[in-house]
Amino acid sequence: TKQKLWGGRFTGKTDPLMHEFNQSLRYDKRMYAADIAGSIAYAKALARVGILTQEEQRKIVDGLTAVCKEWEQGTFKIHADDEDIHTANERRLTELIGPLGGKLHTGRSRNDQVATDMRLWLLGEVRAVEKGLKGLIRVMVERADKEKDILMPGYTHLQRGQPIRWSHFLLSHAFAFRADLERLQQLIPRISVLPLGSGALAGNPFAVDREFLAKELGFESVAENSMYGVSDRDFIVEFMMWGSLAMTHISRMAEDLIIYSTAEFGFVTLSDAYSTGSSIMPQKKNPDSLELLRGKSGRVFGNMSGFLMTLKGLPSTYNKDLQEDKEPLFDAVDTISASMQIAEGVIATMEVHGEKMRQALTMDVLATDLAEYLVRKGIPFRETHHVSGRAVALAEARKCQLNQLSLQDFRSLHEQFDQDVFNVFDFEASVERRQSIGGPSRKMLERQISVLREALAK
Ligand code: ARG
Repeated sequence: TKQKLWGGRFTGKTDPLMHEFNQSLRYDKRMYAADIAGSIAYAKALARVGILTQEEQRKIVDGLTAVCKEWEQGTFKIHADDEDIHTANERRLTELIGPLGGKLHTGRSRNDQVATDMRLWLLGEVRAVEKGLKGLIRVMVERADKEKDILMPGYTHLQRGQPIRWSHFLLSHAFAFRADLERLQQLIPRISVLPLGSGALAGNPFAVDREFLAKELGFESVAENSMYGVSDRDFIVEFMMWGSLAMTHISRMAEDLIIYSTAEFGFVTLSDAYSTGSSIMPQKKNPDSLELLRGKSGRVFGNMSGFLMTLKGLPSTYNKDLQEDKEPLFDAVDTISASMQIAEGVIATMEVHGEKMRQALTMDVLATDLAEYLVRKGIPFRETHHVSGRAVALAEARKCQLNQLSLQDFRSLHEQFDQDVFNVFDFEASVERRQSIGGPSRKMLERQISVLREALAK
């Protein structure tokens, strides 16, 4: 059997189960393109310092390009002895171009190599996730723009609170996603730090130009300390922390919509495309898409907390524990990407029932406006709050709506009530009174929409 890349000092064989235990190719092969890009840049850097001739560099780059094609076309043959993506690519390169392939790893370690691969790979994924998140925000903004006329109750404690526009509700979630978008964009410079050239831990002995490497690979900066370069996995934790929060926002929105899609609320109907049925109850149409979005948020958080557990207690530089960074990160990226797409689809296709929302607007949600009516006549809010509360209690006792009380009833509660008190009982007027920035009035919704559109253009 063939020698392992690190086999020189070994006389005994690896236990078969240990071999399998150690193997990461099964999952790290998805970084093949990043691994090869890193190697191509490194070959160029080695040629620049004379470790490789131009001819040797060309052969290595051509060989690596051929290996990359094999991965792309699905023809790369994995050997039982391939340990990870780095050793697999080098093994195949050497098969293709001969012993010259063995020069590529000069001054490099899998320690700086794997850290480089992970960062490069994640940078590509972050751009895709950013696009997905923008897609989600965009459909929310488009819906909000079209559906500004729909009024609904806004809830606190899941109890009816005050009238709002449906669009205001929708954009409340969009603004959480906009903050997530900003946070994601802010991660990029910290991911974009190049470890390559850090070696195993003590730096590169052949004076490779690391700034050249960074430029070739599109990194914004270079790790300034080689031990830091090979140790650091903060960028992975940070991405998963980001994802945990973004998924928590998705979960909150999903929960709202699950409630709104019940027959009891009937505010929205999910499209068939994002619902499933029951194997026993023929009438059921379940919001599985939303429930999965809610559920998957726990999964991303679990990936993050699990990997932090792995890191806690590790000494500096490379330890094999760090190989455990991949599965949680990959799973987090996959889960987040899929969730953004599903959420976008759900929002784009659900039906909104403005009439049902309107029916849920009972007059009591204008009790705050009633108190504010008296405030406008100069009475302290604490007092008007109390007066309005008594009006609510009176209507409740009479089993009537707040606006069905007579002017005499209102006057019995406070002498400043006039005929114009009945103008208070208008939901549209209530939301339109909220003209300060952040309010549900039409004008402020237009402002929200334009702020979000600007964020999407960045
Ligand atoms: N497969 C390894 C990982 O993912 C690559 C680095 C191996 N380095 C080492 N010194 N054994 O972490």
